[in-house]
Amino acid sequence: MGTERKRKVSLFDVVDEATATAKVNKANGGGAVHGINTTTTGGMPLVNRWNGRPYSQRYYDILEKRKTLPVWHQKEEFLKALKDNQTLILVGETGSGKTTQIPQFVLEAVDVESADRRKKFMVGCTQPRRVAAMSVSRRVAEEMDVTIGEEVDGMLLREAMTDPLLERYKVIILDEAHERTLATDVLFGLLKEVLKNRPDLKLVVMSATLEAEKFQGYFFGAPLMKVPGRLHPVEIFYTQEPERDYLEAAIRTVVQIHMCEPPGDILVFLTGEEEIEDACRKITKEVANMGDQVGPVKVVPLYSTLPPAMQQKIFEPAPSPTTEGGPAGRKIVISTNIAETSLTIDGIVYVIDPGFAKQKVYNPRVRVESLLVSPISKASAHQRSGRAGRTQPGKCFRLYTERSFNNDLQPQTYPEILRSNLANTVLTLKKLGIDDLVHFDFMDPPAPETLMRALEVLNYLGALDDEGNLTKLGEIMSEFPLDPQMGKMLVVSSEFNCSNEILSISAMLSVPNCFVRPREAQKAADEAKARFGHIDGDHLTLLNVYHAYKQNNEDQSWCYENFVNHRALKSADNVRQQLARIMARFNLKLCSTDFNSRDYYINIRKAMLAGYFMQVAHLERTGHYLTVKDNQVVHLHPSNCLDHKPEWVIYNEYVLTSRNFIRTVTDVRGEWIVDIAPHYYDLENFPQCEAKRVLEKLYKKREKDKEESRNRR
Ligand code: CDP
Ligand code: MG
Repeated sequence: MGTERKRKVSLFDVVDEATATAKVNKANGGGAVHGINTTTTGGMPLVNRWNGRPYSQRYYDILEKRKTLPVWHQKEEFLKALKDNQTLILVGETGSGKTTQIPQFVLEAVDVESADRRKKFMVGCTQPRRVAAMSVSRRVAEEMDVTIGEEVDGMLLREAMTDPLLERYKVIILDEAHERTLATDVLFGLLKEVLKNRPDLKLVVMSATLEAEKFQGYFFGAPLMKVPGRLHPVEIFYTQEPERDYLEAAIRTVVQIHMCEPPGDILVFLTGEEEIEDACRKITKEVANMGDQVGPVKVVPLYSTLPPAMQQKIFEPAPSPTTEGGPAGRKIVISTNIAETSLTIDGIVYVIDPGFAKQKVYNPRVRVESLLVSPISKASAHQRSGRAGRTQPGKCFRLYTERSFNNDLQPQTYPEILRSNLANTVLTLKKLGIDDLVHFDFMDPPAPETLMRALEVLNYLGALDDEGNLTKLGEIMSEFPLDPQMGKMLVVSSEFNCSNEILSISAMLSVPNCFVRPREAQKAADEAKARFGHIDGDHLTLLNVYHAYKQNNEDQSWCYENFVNHRALKSADNVRQQLARIMARFNLKLCSTDFNSRDYYINIRKAMLAGYFMQVAHLERTGHYLTVKDNQVVHLHPSNCLDHKPEWVIYNEYVLTSRNFIRTVTDVRGEWIVDIAPHYYDLENFPQCEAKRVLEKLYKKREKDKEESRNRR
């Protein structure tokens, strides 16, 4: 053949709805391929059409494995269905090869099909979870034998802001649709509109379990394609009695399996980083104590904030026996529900399911959104047990009673859109030009009260005018991938002459907690933290940490010695750069107040208040705090750095546990409140409370001061 073709076909773009766009093949200038020789010898292509290089041995090795995936056998059927329809729904059990294969099938078909070779086409595949987007794009790059790109930015919704018809894309694949994340649901509605206006665009909706009819009905009766199910049977065990402590029960079950059951890896579902790390430590210790009677174990954690290199460990094989002929080794993966459907780990034979996951809940009445450990749904439990039967018959241990499974678990997980604060979503939709939110085609429309709350918040922030139209300020705020409060704080920070500092604080608030407190060195860790402490507030403490990190040249050992997480700070630095670029785009000045000025910290605190005036608590004479307007009793989180109990505080987060805490708090003054946010602190619609009486006095004082200064003039 040996034809030389000039063309621009962008390879493969994995788009994470939430955060990440990982571009495959940077070697070719950001994904575009030029002038490729496709040589064929005896029917066997030797050269990779995507980069013009010979295929590696690994490519052929993986190819053999790919050929065994259920999806592989339906390639022709899938491509025909895609050709004949604009929208296609594909349902297949986890591990059948949807995520890794379908984008490649589509890409080949699009490439062959596209008449105008100079035109650039993209195939986008969205993942609700960043971890999955990264892991899957790495895998697909490997399978295609190309170099993975390093760019990680944006998300499909954000792209739609500048490219409303998503014209860069020829095919969009919405993966993990059953997860029904906020972003997926918004994309559903948006893509429905785009499809009407772009007959050439195709949409593939993929899912593990799906209320297929509901999806078909929603997507204009799109055809449904099914990929055959799981490979092996899974035996399910329940506990006789409810477990009091699921963590302890899970650890006990792991140890029992390791002692008594035949070889096979274990997957345990827990709810979050802390719990997972704790379990990893305890299991490793217990197994070590058992000595040579049992085989060696490799215990690997998996959660979203784990660095990518650590995440790869879940794919490593189980350890070999310590002595020849000795007991077999076992891999034990302790994961959040990332491993439920997004990532498939082969070789799992035993699953332990305590029946809980961290889930978002939102109470629009008191405007509180929080992550709560709550019972999973039956659909989730079913998915979890399915993970045990990938390579051979497996066992699933549910740490709850059969009765509880039947009577207490809901059939499906509630879509996230029904349990979220929608301020950010509404701002995004407004920016996308969707004005009539009430009639927007949501698959499950959110409660009117939640939408009203979101509109109200955006109106108070000045992002929407009284008619609900996006203001100039709102336009800019919508460009920041942040909560509207934080966006507002950033946009106005130049006016308070402290945008450099507010940028750093925003970045620090956007990454996981940077303070490390190892069990064996708690005192030293607390002392280290106290050295960064700022008596007026935790936000300022975070700023101190960031400054110290930069002054010490971002040094990793400095971080270690000072009990701060290097990874978190590095990522804060990244976020900061990203935000600074957006500031520059809108000509928002980067400035600082002189550090020696009395106003240095005051300006920063005022700018924060300008964004967070709806997250204020007042200290009552009884000695506890009440949130302003909602009048909820809250306590300062024990992690705070304050040396006093300020009369007014702004807080970043409301933590619902057995007690209600506000976390990351900073002292602000009543005088600033009445200056900066009089529209929100309008006493005419303010519930009777102590804060109101204090505010009344402050308003009077303000009037008096104004009059005096007038008289003096
Ligand atoms: O999307 P679906 O659950 O249908 O399957 P998939 O994620 O495409 O996985 C297909 C196969 O690729 C499984 O056997 C996975 O174990 C394997 N895989 C892998 O080895 N490494 C990855 N990073 C992702 C998938
Ligand atoms: Mg998948």
